[in-house]
Amino acid sequence: VSLLLTARRAPQLDALAEEIRRQGGQAQWLAGDLTSAAFRAQLVAHTAATLGGLDLLVNNAGAGRWGSFESGSEAQLRDILELNFVAPVELTRLALPLLQRAPAGMIVNIGSVLGHCALPYKSEYCAAKFALHGWSDALRAELRREATRPLSDNSGAERGNVAVLLVSPSTTATEFFERTGEARRARAMAPAEVAWRTRRAMETGRQEIILSWGGKLLVWFDRLCPPLMNRLLARYAPRPRA
Ligand SMILES: NC(=O)c1ccc[n+]([C@@H]2O[C@H](COP(=O)([O-])OP(=O)(O)OC[C@H]3O[C@@H](n4cnc5c(N)ncnc54)[C@H](OP(=O)(O)O)[C@@H]3O)[C@@H](O)[C@H]2O)c1
Repeated sequence: VSLLLTARRAPQLDALAEEIRRQGGQAQWLAGDLTSAAFRAQLVAHTAATLGGLDLLVNNAGAGRWGSFESGSEAQLRDILELNFVAPVELTRLALPLLQRAPAGMIVNIGSVLGHCALPYKSEYCAAKFALHGWSDALRAELRREATRPLSDNSGAERGNVAVLLVSPSTTATEFFERTGEARRARAMAPAEVAWRTRRAMETGRQEIILSWGGKLLVWFDRLCPPLMNRLLARYAPRPRA
């Protein structure tokens, strides 16, 4: 397996690639900002040139905001939508021709429980993750239907099906909360467990997974009794300091 890693910080990417190589894997990296259309195009061109194809795209980069809707700004809303929604969608659009040539292509979108059940003071992030959820569902069905039609490159070759897996983690022990300023809850899942469960879901052909029992309860309860859930959240959800 050959990996191409990306994020903005080169030193972190270099250290991770080195760690993967130490453990016997193959990894390279390209640093850049995924909200830039030019960088997304460069990333896909680099993938085609150096890896010669693509079997799996993991859309993981994301960030949130913790604050009331009225204290936010249009710029903050656009930043969150760009990173959590537009970037993965447009990167996927560019990568699709490569994925459709793979024997069994796959897209893994890292969403959130908050893409199923919305919490107060995270309105922009919830909106972005709900959008990612809806797009993942639509794309999954569309790609299945379009599989076996000829590729649009006039080669006459057929498109392979590209599976879409939506992963919805709950609180995870990462840098995420340092960036939003929100105190992380004591019970956070380890990132390694998120990765391990994602891999198992890929291997077993799942379309969607909600990772924690707390997350599953939240989503089920929200579907079962939305008005009650709304009242509980309005009353008990932590409020950021003004
Ligand atoms: N942590 C949680 O509790 C939690 C819960 C549910 C879902 N999630 C989701 O899980 C995913 C991973 O988040 P995380 O918890 O691992 O947060 P994190 O520790 O803050 O990691 C975010 C990653 O995205 C990269 N990134 C951020 N902005 C970028 C940009 N503009 N261009 C390229 N890369 C960028 C960051 O690297 P650079 O800063 O170097 O660019 C970093 O590698 C996100 O989609 C998040 O919404 C997290």
